[in-house]
Amino acid sequence: MKLDIKGVKEHMNNNIIKNLKYFDSVTSTNELALEMKSENIQEGDVIIGGEQTKGRGRLKRNWHSPQYLGLWFSIIVRPSKDLDRIPLLTLIGALSVHKAIKNMGIKTDLKWPNDILYNNKKVCGVLSQFRSDGKEIDRVVVGIGLNVNQKEFPKELKDTSISLRMIMEKIIKKEKLLAEILDNFSDFYQLFQNSEYDEIINSWKIEMSMLNKQITINTANGNKMKGKVVDISNKGELIIEKLNKERQKFIAGDVSIDKNSIRF
Ligand code: BTN
Repeated sequence: MKLDIKGVKEHMNNNIIKNLKYFDSVTSTNELALEMKSENIQEGDVIIGGEQTKGRGRLKRNWHSPQYLGLWFSIIVRPSKDLDRIPLLTLIGALSVHKAIKNMGIKTDLKWPNDILYNNKKVCGVLSQFRSDGKEIDRVVVGIGLNVNQKEFPKELKDTSISLRMIMEKIIKKEKLLAEILDNFSDFYQLFQNSEYDEIINSWKIEMSMLNKQITINTANGNKMKGKVVDISNKGELIIEKLNKERQKFIAGDVSIDKNSIRF
């Protein structure tokens, strides 16, 4: 069913999210949010798509966004922070969804930096992108794709994707869920603006599945590395301890937890 924006607003209670802008069909809510003229956007705008015809995922992947079956939206913020803090906004996006889903009684895994998994299948992904005018950040777009009411997925996704409906075995009302996610985002964003980074990271570490596990990370430049996840820095970097006990930080990468990984 089509999202009822009035219904979302009725459930929402925060000071950051101001305008919900709904489009029945868009190429990509991130693309739209990035392209909008500066004077036409403000902090706390949210672009929502009924469907996306060219939904984008990380690493230039597509994001399957069928009509009315999920929550496909991008939150626009204009933080006055250094660029190196921006990755934290991806973590905040994922944490906000994770918390709302947990409140429905579903226990999901947070996979650094941007995935929410259930039984190793993806229920939500976050893609943050920014636009900068020279030195200053003009806007950060935190794009969230949450699989809500799909009954099934196309062949190529069915082993790796899952929806809330498939988990709960019932149709989920999207309005209250979106309102809750946006309220959570607002709470975490306020911490971010107050530079209370440790608080954000601690919330992440409590929920994330890979702490103290042996993992393999594939980095953007094609390198593969193995190690144990020991921490997340307050810039959102994953900190890994290698066999020789040397520690290394990563700001991006695809992580898989090694089979036979022992929890220490
Ligand atoms: C990923 O896991 O690779 C990230 C997926 C992010 C998908 C969302 S859907 C709303 C927003 N618009 C996009 O085109 N992508 C993000």
